[in-house]
Amino acid sequence: MNSEKLVKIFKAFIEKNNETFYKIAWEIIDEEKRKKHHLLATQLKHILTENPVASNINYTQQLPPIPRDNEKGFRLLDVKKFCMDWGDVVLAKETEETLRQIVKELEIEKVLATYGLKPKQKILFYGHSGTGKTLTAKILSSVIGYPLVYVRFESVISSFLGETASNLRKIFDFIEKGKWIVLFDEFDIIGKQRDDPTEHGEIKRVVNNFMLMLENYEGESVLIASTNHPHLLDIGVWRRFDEIVYFDLPDKERRKKIFEKYLRVLKKDKDFDLNKLSEESEGFSGADIEQSCIGALKMAILNGKDTVSLLDVIKAVSRQKKRTEAKKVIRYERPY
Ligand SMILES: Nc1ncnc2c1ncn2[C@@H]1O[C@H](COP(=O)(O)OP(=O)(O)OP(=O)(O)O)[C@@H](O)[C@H]1O
Ligand SMILES: [Mg+2]
Repeated sequence: MNSEKLVKIFKAFIEKNNETFYKIAWEIIDEEKRKKHHLLATQLKHILTENPVASNINYTQQLPPIPRDNEKGFRLLDVKKFCMDWGDVVLAKETEETLRQIVKELEIEKVLATYGLKPKQKILFYGHSGTGKTLTAKILSSVIGYPLVYVRFESVISSFLGETASNLRKIFDFIEKGKWIVLFDEFDIIGKQRDDPTEHGEIKRVVNNFMLMLENYEGESVLIASTNHPHLLDIGVWRRFDEIVYFDLPDKERRKKIFEKYLRVLKKDKDFDLNKLSEESEGFSGADIEQSCIGALKMAILNGKDTVSLLDVIKAVSRQKKRTEAKKVIRYERPY
């Protein structure tokens, strides 16, 4: 370790400057790794991440430095902790069972290891927009107890393809430093850009690069890629995942539950009929239902009411239908 770092880390300790302390500590760990002192690097990492005393220190200050894009300087990922559970999402029974199975496997990770087995770690979420993919990643992060690393794929793609590859490397280097649920959101963006003939060869290299990093990843985190355009990803991409979870649009019964969930804030009028709402909202995603409920609740509150009526919600549903139609037009006119 160089003397400059030693001085800085001593100073940071005395001045109780946690942010600088952790920054230098992570740099030292990286340095030891580069020197191939893997045992020491792992030992130091455990001291930083698994020490109960650390719970007294602001969580974000303990994180390894967040990687940034060289070209534009923005953060390539965000790290957050959530406090949610299964009651916060309404999913098809089979979908929830598959997800609970993933959690169970992680809970008995050590037992599985004694049989030479590993829990499922590389997961693809696919399905219509607004069906709860991002929400479910937050719930998994909460119930498993690993913080969520959120990577918006669009921001990783740089106008310089060489930079994109370096961004991906930086993200995977960060992931190696902890135990996380990592969500690669809008993962299909790489598939979409691949359709552009001018970028063809280069983008293909980026896709392959990402898939290779995913395949070679052997750490302890759970990596989730999320898409609502699965048809853009070829078979080669699909078979690299240990589990594929489909998020469908909610059926009548689930729509009822979602309305119920988001209307909870106010009492409902006596003649309120959830069945009627469920029929009116055929084809709605969870996000569409949530938006309708928010609209109806606001309308009721603005009108000075302390209950919400069926008519308020039906009106909000028809406004949401129009908005969804408008969004579709915009989406189809996008250049990719
Ligand atoms: N199945 C659901 N149960 C309860 N709430 C839901 C559900 N689906 C969506 N919502 C609500 O809609 C919001 C947006 O959903 P979310 O961001 O998880 O959708 P998504 O599937 O990730 O969409 P996209 O593919 O566009 O990223 C959620 O935060 C939640 O409030
Ligand atoms: Mg999402």
